[in-house]
Amino acid sequence: MRICVIGAGYVGLATGVMFGKLGHEVVCVDIDGRRLRDISAGRLPFYEPPLEKELRKLVKNGMLSASGDIKKSVARSKFVFLCVQTPSLSSGKIDIRALKTACRDVARAMAGADGYRVIVVKSTVVPSTTDTVLKPILEDGSGKSIGREIGLCVNPEFLQEGSALKDSMEPSRIVVGAHDKRSSDALARLYSPIKSSTFRTDLRTAEMIKYAANSFLAAKISYANEMANLCLRLGIDSEQVLAAVGEDPRIGKLFLKPGLGFGGSCLPKDVRALKQKARELDYPAHLLTAIQRINDEQPDEAISILKSVFKDLKGLRIAVLGLSFKGGVDDVRDTRAVPLITSLLAKNVEVVAYDPIAMSRFIELMPTIRYASTVEDALTQADACVIQADWPEFREIGRAQFSKMRNPVVIDGRRLLDPGEVEASGAKYFGVGYGRARRE
Ligand SMILES: NC(=O)c1ccc[n+]([C@@H]2O[C@H](COP(=O)([O-])OP(=O)(O)OC[C@H]3O[C@@H](n4cnc5c(N)ncnc54)[C@H](O)[C@@H]3O)[C@@H](O)[C@H]2O)c1
Repeated sequence: MRICVIGAGYVGLATGVMFGKLGHEVVCVDIDGRRLRDISAGRLPFYEPPLEKELRKLVKNGMLSASGDIKKSVARSKFVFLCVQTPSLSSGKIDIRALKTACRDVARAMAGADGYRVIVVKSTVVPSTTDTVLKPILEDGSGKSIGREIGLCVNPEFLQEGSALKDSMEPSRIVVGAHDKRSSDALARLYSPIKSSTFRTDLRTAEMIKYAANSFLAAKISYANEMANLCLRLGIDSEQVLAAVGEDPRIGKLFLKPGLGFGGSCLPKDVRALKQKARELDYPAHLLTAIQRINDEQPDEAISILKSVFKDLKGLRIAVLGLSFKGGVDDVRDTRAVPLITSLLAKNVEVVAYDPIAMSRFIELMPTIRYASTVEDALTQADACVIQADWPEFREIGRAQFSKMRNPVVIDGRRLLDPGEVEASGAKYFGVGYGRARRE
């Protein structure tokens, strides 16, 4: 089967590699020429080593190619997956301009092409976008009708960055939202080699499943943070509390780790978008508001720990370790490093930032702060360090590095380090929501 993927980003390339590995011939279309050249050379435009290895193999054996020619690529394919970005606007709504452009291009390509093909929306869009906005664009531009000459599906993606290949090949579930039975059968058949529970729904239900899932994950993190913030003020170790809470099968252990809050390309923007949609519907969505507010304020927990240690932060040098939204990835979208560093700068702190992989992307967000080339360089003469992302290499930080600091004070924003080991290495350990608890 020939498959066309529009938008060669995280989701597009993970989808392309997954279908390539299942034996289909995949063409990845993008408007970014540099991206296309990278893919043609077997290189990923982002950091995801296992996915890159498989991409290289597929490019080499001709099962996956990159193209800027949407017309030809769509005309030759039986399935067209739309995987372009849907970022937040300042209002919180999603920006679907790239998706509308891609739909217009796909529609034009279908106008002159014979045969039935299925258009699959993988980009995350708020419920009702596909049937009220994208469907008319596809029909008007192609002169064909959905349900007869064209199939239309919504197939949300649940992969996590850092494990994109595994999550695509072994998904927790497959959601096939479809306009009609023929589209649904075709997409379900395409996915049939992948063993996973499949939910066949209509278009809006599939769109909502993605938002409902991400809202729950975000809620779990904000819940863990709120409990941990309370534990800290009560002089209780939240780690023990949440470990015991998570043993309840109705709750579950994952995503119950307190820290500086959630970031990345999905959770913050999806919570914002669903909240905006609720507002349009005149529904107050109190839970979504609280999830977001807790997350927005969570980086301030690190600031309040610093204040409890130093009183006045003015003039201190603080190293921020880890700039991506989590360790193991180079994605800096909605990373908590931005609000954290912004708050530190507002308190006249000198910030020295370091990340093993994501630094060049982060520099585009905050070009004027100081960057260090190694962990040691970042820690030298620092009054404290804040671990913002859980990069495995930060686990290796020990006496040799701490001894370079003016004041060896560690604020662990991701519960990465062992408090006992840090203290044995001569540094003071404070975990966000844990550690030197402030007893009443
Ligand atoms: N990144 C994730 O972990 C993840 C997980 C699940 C769902 N999603 C959702 O999937 C969608 C894609 O996310 P992403 O992170 O892969 O985005 P991305 O920014 O990494 O990639 C999007 C790609 O689309 C390309 N593009 C934009 N307009 C185009 C057009 N008109 N024609 C062809 N290509 C075009 C861009 O150049 C870019 O390469 C979003 O809606 C996102 O919310 C993302």
